[in-house]
Amino acid sequence: MRIIIEEHPSLLDVSELLRPEKKFADKDLSKFRDYTVNDGDPLRERVRRTYRLMHTNQTVDFVEGRHEDWLKFDHFKATIRVALEKLNDLVDESDPDLDLPNIIHAFQTAERARLDYPEFDWLHLTGLIHDLGKVMAFFGEPQWAVVGDTFPVGCDWGDSIVYRDESFVDNPDGWNPKYNTKFGKYEPNCGLDKLTMSWGHDEYLYRVLVHNKSTLPEQALQMIRYHSFYPWHSGGDYSHLTTEKDEQTKQWVLLFNRYDLYTKCTTIPDLDALWPYYQGLIDKYIPGELEW
Ligand SMILES: [Fe+2]
Ligand SMILES: [Fe+2]
Repeated sequence: MRIIIEEHPSLLDVSELLRPEKKFADKDLSKFRDYTVNDGDPLRERVRRTYRLMHTNQTVDFVEGRHEDWLKFDHFKATIRVALEKLNDLVDESDPDLDLPNIIHAFQTAERARLDYPEFDWLHLTGLIHDLGKVMAFFGEPQWAVVGDTFPVGCDWGDSIVYRDESFVDNPDGWNPKYNTKFGKYEPNCGLDKLTMSWGHDEYLYRVLVHNKSTLPEQALQMIRYHSFYPWHSGGDYSHLTTEKDEQTKQWVLLFNRYDLYTKCTTIPDLDALWPYYQGLIDKYIPGELEW
């Protein structure tokens, strides 16, 4: 039976969507997300430095301060297109796989999802916008509070976090007995949405979309909110804080992740030719000028 996800996305079983036969031939998969130290490689050193700063400075207090600042949505007003074009100038300093402007990555992600699932227009749009929260970098936010993998603050850091053993040593939450235990400030299995995530582009764009009343389906919002939470969706950490429902969410996030990660390659899409299609989707799900 064919389910029309556009009308009833919540009815869809994500496990039926994961199609292992889909191939990602652009690059050997084992070559993505390689964070091993390689002295002398400036790209790799930059990644490591960004994470070191992130893991030192992302504390409960810091994240609460960022919420105070950004969740007033009074920084600027812009359409999705204008925000996307801003990303043309941004190179993500946490990413070992990509040294291209972010707008290229946005279209690569969207187009790969479109190729596999032409019927799910909301998924194409999710691919296009998923990194838009990185516009914070143009408003004084340092890259370590914008890009990179995320993790919950206020409890022990997961074992699978990149550079876990070396880069949290100077984070003050590590000495705070309220936060430095397995559960920290959380109740067991409290659920994903109760976690205070390290501040970055995932949480910010999720909040922007909710604030501006986007009609994207819930799955799309969850994919955006947790796509960088690698220690959870790919590392196997934090199951003591999540619920059974979060496992469903994880499957959606993993589906999305295939397009986010495995399309990072050097093929450049023709942006001008693609705009009319994506503008139609923007008008459908996130029209007009948004408050950021
Ligand atoms: Fe991202
Ligand atoms: Fe991305």
